[in-house]
Amino acid sequence: MCGIVGYIGKKNTKQILIDGLKELEYRGYDSAGIALLEGEKLEVYKAVGKIKNLEEKVLCNQICPAKDGTFSLGIGHTRWATHGKPTELNAHPHLGVYSYVVHNGIIENYKELKEELTNAGHNFVSQTDTEVIVHLFEYYFNQSNDAKLSFHQTIERLEGAYSILLITKSMPDSIFFMKHGSPLAIAKGNDDGEIYFASSDAPLIGLAHDVVYLEDGISGIASIDNLEFSDEVKWSILPSSKLFAQKDGFRFFMEKEIYEQKDVVVDTMMGRLKDNAIEFDELPPHILDGINEIKICACGTSFHAGLTASYLFERLTKIRCSVEIASEFRYKEPLLSKDTLFIVISQSGETADTLEALKMAKNGGLKSIAVCNVDNSSMTRVADATVLLRAGIEKGVASTKAFSTQTVVLWMMALYFGKIKGSIDNKKLQDELKTLKAVPNSLKVENSLHEKCRRLSKRYLHGHGFFFIGRDVFYPLALEGALKLKEISYLHAEGYPAGEMKHGPIALADPELFTIALMPQHLHYDKIKSNVEELSARDSTICAISPLPFELSDDFILTKETNHYMLEFFEMLVVLQLFSMEISVRLGNDVDMPRNLAKSVTVE
Ligand code: G6P
Repeated sequence: MCGIVGYIGKKNTKQILIDGLKELEYRGYDSAGIALLEGEKLEVYKAVGKIKNLEEKVLCNQICPAKDGTFSLGIGHTRWATHGKPTELNAHPHLGVYSYVVHNGIIENYKELKEELTNAGHNFVSQTDTEVIVHLFEYYFNQSNDAKLSFHQTIERLEGAYSILLITKSMPDSIFFMKHGSPLAIAKGNDDGEIYFASSDAPLIGLAHDVVYLEDGISGIASIDNLEFSDEVKWSILPSSKLFAQKDGFRFFMEKEIYEQKDVVVDTMMGRLKDNAIEFDELPPHILDGINEIKICACGTSFHAGLTASYLFERLTKIRCSVEIASEFRYKEPLLSKDTLFIVISQSGETADTLEALKMAKNGGLKSIAVCNVDNSSMTRVADATVLLRAGIEKGVASTKAFSTQTVVLWMMALYFGKIKGSIDNKKLQDELKTLKAVPNSLKVENSLHEKCRRLSKRYLHGHGFFFIGRDVFYPLALEGALKLKEISYLHAEGYPAGEMKHGPIALADPELFTIALMPQHLHYDKIKSNVEELSARDSTICAISPLPFELSDDFILTKETNHYMLEFFEMLVVLQLFSMEISVRLGNDVDMPRNLAKSVTVE
C-alpha cells in the first residue's frame, strides 16, 4: 500500500523524508521517491526497490548532499504499483512542469482527464493515474495564476479515493494537501513552525506531539507557521509506540488486516465496478475467444478462493471450471488443451508450486491470468495478463484480506465473463453489481460480533477436533475456516462439505467434537439444516453461524439478514477469522507468526 510523507521546517528535509519513508516500509512498496523545493530550486530523486536505493542516490548527489539541509520543504512516497509497472518513471513524485505531486489511492476518472489534458497540450510520461493530478493543477494555474484556486479546481475534478500532497514553484513556501478515502495525518513538530505529513503515525512518533487525522473531504495548505484547513479539524495526541502505530492500534497485524478488509475491497473494486458494468482494462478484449474451459490452480488460502470461484464461474459464465492444488497438478501429467483459460491465484505471486504450474500451462500454449497481490512478482511476469488484488501488504502469515479480495476479484471476473458470453442478462448483472457494492458493509467488523467471538472462544480450547461444514461456496469457506484455526491455534480442524459427513466423518461425532456449521439463509438452508440435525442427534457440540435462529445448536452466532448468499459469505468469513484469532490469543500463541509456517513458500 502506498505511503506518503511531507515536511516543512528548518531541519534536514532530505533526511527527514527518507527516515519517514523507512517508517512506512511495513506497508509494502516497490519503488520510492522524494521531491524538494526551496524557492526556484526543485529537486527530485526516485528509485526502484528498497528505500536504501533511494537513500544512496540522495546521498551520492554531490551538488546538494543530504547534510546541507537547505530545502525548506519536501514530499515523499513509497509506491505499491496499481497502474503501471514499478519503474522509476512510474514512481512518485510526479512532475508537471513546475509542480510535483504524491498520491495514495486511485483516480477513477484518470483516463478521461488524461485525454482532456493531452488535447490541451500536456505531455504525459508515466502509466500512472496520479500524473493527471499535477497536470490538472498546472492547467488551471496557467489560466488563473492563482495556486490556491487551481488546487481547489483540481480536487473538484478528481473521482476515486486519494490522499495528495502537492508542491509547486508557483507557491514555493507551501504544501497543498487533500484527503478523500486514503489516510493522511498532519502533525505539528516539536520545533517551532515545523509541519509533518504522513500516511500513518509511525513516521511522526518522536518528532511531533499533536496530530490531526484528516477526515474525508478535508483539504488545505501548509507553510511554516501557518496551517489552513477547509473545515474544522480535531487535534489529538500522538501514541508513543511505533509498533502499535504500525498496527494502527490493533494487537496483531492479523487483527488489523481483518478489520481493514472492508476498506481494501473498495480499492479492489475501484475503476472496475462501474455504475452499470464491470470492466477489467488489464484483460485483453478477446480473452474468451476459443475458450471452452477454465482451470484454476493455487495453494493454501488462495486455493480456497479458487474453489469458491469455481462455483461462481460455472453458475455465471456457463463455462466448465475446475480447480487444482498446484503441487498436485504439477506431477499428474495433466492434459492441457488450448481451449482452456488457465488462472493462477496467489497473494505473493512467488509460491513455487503455483509458479511452476503456470509455467507448464504457458509452455502448453494456454492463455493465462495471474490473480495476484504483488505486482512485478514472478507470476505476474509469466502470465499473459495480471489482475491485481490491491489489498496492500499482508503481514499476518494467516492470510485474511488476500482471501476476501481474491474472492471479490474472481466473482467480478465471473460476472464480466458472463456478460461477454451472454450467459447472464442485464437484470441479473445489475442485481449482482448492487450486491457487490454492499460487500464492504458485510466485511465490517461490528464490536458486538467481535465480542461474541471472543467470549465464545473460551469454550473451544479443548476437545479432539473441529469440523467446519458448509455447502456450495460455503464448503470452501468451511475449508478456509478450518485452515485459519489450524494455522494459528494448532488445534485439529477439518473442512467438509456438509452433505458428505454421513459418508464417514460423522463416525467421530461426540460432545468433544466441535462442529462449526455455516448456515446461510440464501443457499440450500434446508439441506444444511438437515445435515446439522444429523450431527446434533449424535451429540456433537455445535456452533451455528446463521442469520436464522437454530434451536439445536449449543452456541449460536447471529449474522445480519441480507438478500444474497455472497453477503452472508463475507460476514461469515469475518466471523471465522475472528474466532480463530481469539482462540489463538487464549492459547497464548504467536498470532502473526505461527510455528512452522512461512508467508511466502518459494520452495517445492
Ligand atoms: C503459504 C501461506 C498461506 C498461503 C499459501 C499460498 O502456505 O502460509 O497463507 O495461502 O502459502 O500463498 P500465495 O502467496 O500463493 O497465495
